[in-house]
Amino acid sequence: MPSFVPHKVIFFGEHAVVYGYPSISSTVDLFSKIYLIPNKFHYQQTPFVQGALKFLNKEDVYVKVESNVPSGSGLGTSSMVIVGILLHNPELRGERLAKVAYEIEYSVQGLGSPIDTSTIVAGGFVMTNGNYGIPLWEVTKNDKKWKFTNLPGKNLDLIIVYVGNKGSTKEQVEKVRKFMNRGRFAREIMERIGEITREGASAIVRNDLEKIGELMKENHKELKIFGLSTPTMEKVIEIGNSYGYGAKLTGAGGGGSVIILTKERDKIREKLNELNLQFFETSTTSVGAFFK
Ligand code: PMV
Repeated sequence: MPSFVPHKVIFFGEHAVVYGYPSISSTVDLFSKIYLIPNKFHYQQTPFVQGALKFLNKEDVYVKVESNVPSGSGLGTSSMVIVGILLHNPELRGERLAKVAYEIEYSVQGLGSPIDTSTIVAGGFVMTNGNYGIPLWEVTKNDKKWKFTNLPGKNLDLIIVYVGNKGSTKEQVEKVRKFMNRGRFAREIMERIGEITREGASAIVRNDLEKIGELMKENHKELKIFGLSTPTMEKVIEIGNSYGYGAKLTGAGGGGSVIILTKERDKIREKLNELNLQFFETSTTSVGAFFK
């Protein structure tokens, strides 16, 4: 029996969340299936897989992941695999599952926030460090604390465009850290992203598509200043801004994926096909990871 685990997108606040600002992410209707198959041969598996199996005391298994989403797409693949493995233990659910998954991810990456793991476990629109919505849980690490809430909101139609492997999140996070160490300028950008995110929460709750799109455009512009976009991403952003409500990079950047809030679906499809890029027509979902 597999576990079913959704991918996630970040609507607002990636990178800023690393410095305690709010973010809004959501699960999307793209689920992967994760099977644990008994096998006494030890395959070469990723450190995330090894970490999760070790926690379950199940090292003699092969982990099979059935997924249409490429890894390195910025859609939470590593968190998804960890959560999917841990779900095979019925005692790991909800808050405890989110916390254990983050510990494993952190032990491998050595940095980063728990937004991916908590979003994938909770499902729906998840706000970090905002005072809106229904309280979920808090995750702490060293001197940092992230408070999660679920935002009520209608599902949003999205086109997620994969523009090529994003490389390491760590590299992008460190790129931003260098700006942050240099002075006030970067801090002001983060402040602005924080405001965009808070406005985004209220736009999502009101289902104000025009406003959500406008805020996505603004958030992308701020991220671009840190050098997190790429020429291909910019081509997709142009399409998304012209024929969708708005578009932005999602996740760490430097490649990975762009999200477009869908408006003129056929036109967007036609333009993306001209660029020969892989894309997913999907929507946000209120469903989090589960085991049947
Ligand atoms: O691309 P992803 O899914 O690894 O997202 C990274 C989001 C960051 O804010 C850049 C880092 C983090 O851990 O919050």
